[in-house]
Amino acid sequence: MKKWRSLVVGLISLALLVVAAGFWIRSRADLQIGERLAKNNCNVCHDLTRAMKNEKGPYLWGIVNRPAGSVDFPYSGPFLNHVRANPIVWSEDNLERFLANPGLFIPQIRMAQHTVEHPFAFDGMDSAANRRDLVAWLKTLR
Ligand code: HEC
Repeated sequence: MKKWRSLVVGLISLALLVVAAGFWIRSRADLQIGERLAKNNCNVCHDLTRAMKNEKGPYLWGIVNRPAGSVDFPYSGPFLNHVRANPIVWSEDNLERFLANPGLFIPQIRMAQHTVEHPFAFDGMDSAANRRDLVAWLKTLR
């Protein structure tokens, strides 16, 4: 009877260890995946460095917890009207929701409009895990 009990305890500990190791590996992978996603999806229009240069879009240095529309960038009329009427702070949560579908979060945002100048506009990122990794990496830009 005692042997069984220690076997069960051993198995449970092993299972917990495997789960913990999984979380640890997953949390380490986050930033690497996030950086790659940012470089592949955002860098064409946004400066991601501490140079803080505006490109097609405003620079993203310090974006996490920055109020929307707050840097010196020629934002579009629809964007400015929207954030003046509904002030938004780019919390991690808001960024994740925004990145799922920018044009739904802020209607007519220029970022999601395919034009001759912006043929590769950003329509959104379906995977919640990818959005989380991306925002985790954006948080390191400070
Ligand atoms: C096709 C170019 C383009 C791509 C690609 C793009 N953006 Fe944008 N982004 C813009 C533009 C332009 C604006 C300004 C929107 C406006 O004025 O309507 C903007 C605005 C933003 C804002 C609001 C910034 C502020 O100061 O309030 C955030 C946050 C943002 N983008 C994040 C991202 C992220 C993260 C990615 C990658 C997943 C990305 N963008 C991809 C062009 C782009």
